[in-house]
Amino acid sequence: MLVCYLTDEPGKIPAIRAALEPRYQVIARVLGQESVFAPSGVLMVDADLRQAARVEEIKHALQGLDTINEKLFVVHGHLHHLIAQAYALGATSVAYNAKEAVSRLARVEATVRASQAGVECAIGRMADSSAAFASMFSAVGGGQTVNLADAETVTSQIIASINQHGLSGWLDNVRKYHEGTFQHCLLVTGIAVGFAVDIRFADQDVKRLGMAATLHDIGKARIPLPILDKPGRLDPKEEEIMRQHPAIGYDLLKDIPGIGSETLDAVRHHHEYLDGSGYPDALTASQIPDIVRLLTISDIFAALIEARSYRPPMSRENAYKILCDMDGKLEQPLVKAFRDVAMVA
Ligand SMILES: [Fe+2]
Ligand SMILES: [Fe+2]
Repeated sequence: MLVCYLTDEPGKIPAIRAALEPRYQVIARVLGQESVFAPSGVLMVDADLRQAARVEEIKHALQGLDTINEKLFVVHGHLHHLIAQAYALGATSVAYNAKEAVSRLARVEATVRASQAGVECAIGRMADSSAAFASMFSAVGGGQTVNLADAETVTSQIIASINQHGLSGWLDNVRKYHEGTFQHCLLVTGIAVGFAVDIRFADQDVKRLGMAATLHDIGKARIPLPILDKPGRLDPKEEEIMRQHPAIGYDLLKDIPGIGSETLDAVRHHHEYLDGSGYPDALTASQIPDIVRLLTISDIFAALIEARSYRPPMSRENAYKILCDMDGKLEQPLVKAFRDVAMVA
């Protein structure tokens, strides 16, 4: 496999060659130089995305490289806005250091082989959805309003992918290639859509739940990044700030023309529990609409099967057991209906 390495520091090239060769053929280029890459293989970008000039140089360098499907960005540290920047530039996956990048390349190689062998995969569509999430979050984080058309596009992409490839393929690909808030949103939307399809929702209801899931954590775009990206458990003060995200999301969306009331409900109330122990409004059972109950189950399940910096991902079986143990908080008939989605789909 050919790896096209693009960096802003020429001094990094010998180390990357030592790590990758002879397993991969490496072409290295320093940002700002005019030499052209072969438009194939995997592109690996290792540059300081905090600098606007670097970002412009990367954009320039990427022109004409549309035929390279795999674009791996090395983003040093778990910095949410830099990850967003990487996806906005066209990243299909992100690594946090050179060592992790090498192991991601091995996964990419396996995927390329699988594709060449004729195994269908939804990675292209997933990369589009991920990029859409990234740009939506960075726009909202930067003070812009939520673009409902973007949310609808990403929701439709995810529904199409689940219908075509099933939920398991989606979960595996998302967990392999994406991380942090985007991974969570991609997972929750995929799971919620898979759930709705499994219990035979009409198409328009699948879309309504999908939209609610796509936007459910949009309030996190306004949570300070040191809290959102903290590589560890939040302390009580940070937790209190994080718990503001449903109300922030609601405020961001409530005046947008065309927003559905069920989406607003889901965004504000996806952390409410039937027994009144949730937040932000401590609603109880009769006040929590069905669509929110479905979303809450999908949200908790997604959070459990995600890798967090302070714990490995939980198996789908164990995550489902935890849902079953939340009797009183989640609607158990719905949890029962979720079993096939959690374990089999
Ligand atoms: Fe949330
Ligand atoms: Fe969530």
